[in-house]
Amino acid sequence: MTPHYSDERTTLYQGDALAALRNLPDASVDAVITDPPYSSGGQYRGDRSASTGSKYLRSEVHTQQDFTGDNRDQRSFGYWCALWLGECHRIARPGSLIAVATDWRQLPTVTDAIQAGGWVWRGIAAWAKPNARPQQGRPAAACEFYVWGTAGARPLEGETLPGFWHVSPLRGADRMHQTEKPVAVLRDLVRAAPVDGVVLDPFAGSGTTGLAALREGRRFIGIELSHHYAELAARRLAGIQPRQVDTQTDLFDVARIA
Ligand SMILES: C[S@@+](CC[C@H](N)C(=O)[O-])C[C@H]1O[C@@H](n2cnc3c(N)ncnc32)[C@H](O)[C@@H]1O
Repeated sequence: MTPHYSDERTTLYQGDALAALRNLPDASVDAVITDPPYSSGGQYRGDRSASTGSKYLRSEVHTQQDFTGDNRDQRSFGYWCALWLGECHRIARPGSLIAVATDWRQLPTVTDAIQAGGWVWRGIAAWAKPNARPQQGRPAAACEFYVWGTAGARPLEGETLPGFWHVSPLRGADRMHQTEKPVAVLRDLVRAAPVDGVVLDPFAGSGTTGLAALREGRRFIGIELSHHYAELAARRLAGIQPRQVDTQTDLFDVARIA
């Protein structure tokens, strides 16, 4: 499969994750950090087949393009996840870490699916959003989660990583993708791979995992189905050098290509 974009440290494919993953060699990446379409946002078929913008950005004016692949019911979502998670397990070196983003509705399905894919499920890290919408008479749905596990045994060595984050998502026009994750969260997670190791994200979206990996001195392989988002990710990742920066500077990169 010909990359949509490549340079010395980045390879980005535009296409279906499962098809692209099947072309990657065994034991060739050091961490899988990803954010698949959640297929969440409702109980009924009508809810699930709604546009991603109306599901995930209900209260905001937004200009980011909708994305596909987000309308499976819970059972078929779990089955599909097990397929690509199994491919990721084959591609990961023994001991590699995987972290898969999800929300409260799909949390039980994702913990099942990573095990069905061959990974050892080891925990859940939480991303708490300080600006989550309050709900009368009940807790705000303030958290998204990273279900994490390993490809077999993983030695207790290396850097310690946080188990939760308290970071606001980008709002409105600052965002390049409807479900963009904060660079600060990803910069922590990608450090599960060694320096110069390879981080894989089969649902790359606007390339946030890639940006974090390159900033942290790791290499990156991304896959993205949408031509629009693959192109956006390619532009975002071109020429990124490792450097120590804070979130403000990461925001600068968003402004730079908007
Ligand atoms: C939740 S978003 C990822 C957003 C990303 N974390 C970011 O910060 O920009 C999931 C992405 O997966 C892509 N996608 C959906 N189905 C796919 C498939 N079968 N193969 C590869 N990418 C797919 C969508 O186009 C969407 O951009």
